[in-house]
Amino acid sequence: MRKKIVAGNWKMNLNKLDAVELFKSLESSVYPPDVEVIIAPPSIYLDSFSNASNLKIASQDVSQNSNGAYTGEFSSEMLFSINLRFAIVGHSERRVFHNESDEMIFNKVKSLLNNGLTPIFCCGESLDDRNNGIQFDVVNSQLSNILNNLSSSDLEKLIIAYEPVWAIGTGLTAEPSDAQAMHSYIRNTIANKFTTKTSEQISILYGGSCKPANSKELFSMKDIDGGLIGGASLDSNSFLAIVNSF
Ligand code: PGA
Repeated sequence: MRKKIVAGNWKMNLNKLDAVELFKSLESSVYPPDVEVIIAPPSIYLDSFSNASNLKIASQDVSQNSNGAYTGEFSSEMLFSINLRFAIVGHSERRVFHNESDEMIFNKVKSLLNNGLTPIFCCGESLDDRNNGIQFDVVNSQLSNILNNLSSSDLEKLIIAYEPVWAIGTGLTAEPSDAQAMHSYIRNTIANKFTTKTSEQISILYGGSCKPANSKELFSMKDIDGGLIGGASLDSNSFLAIVNSF
């Protein structure tokens, strides 16, 4: 059975006081034993939350380089050294605002795997892509580096997050059936390249305006194993309700 996962991506929100308050409330909450709960606070707070025991802590990004003259960046090794084991890579906001290419994102995936961290690999099409009917091709091409260059044992370590860009922070959610269609496409693509067994082990999360009102229906879909939650992860009640909606 693959893992059910709910991950909260706090993005660039919350000052220290508010972040600590939300962290404490989530850390002391009771979760269903079969759901892994991850939060990704802004990097400036990661070290102070890395002793969490109830929650898993993720970085929102990582450098593709291992060390050196890269002002403002931090490496996978540094994340590991503060006890982190997860990092989001390839979020659409990084792809768009920081011009991250598929190659750069793949380098980040490799760096994380080499240093013992689990990448939460994001992919997803824009509204134009969907309107032009090329959403599957776009996601396929975003996945191509990991499918063509990772071993099955490395691929099995990944968490994949399908996040249609048009649904992120917009209040528009993919219809559960459309999200399921993409999740099933991703799983079949992995099965064709590797094996069904490999494809069945990888948790594929949905992200994009996921909230308590729609999480139950989304998570009831066969290939949706949880969510990557932005806005609704900033409120402990909403986040808890989502975690409890499997
Ligand atoms: P949202 O963000 O839930 O606010 O749409 C999701 C994400 O970007 O991970």
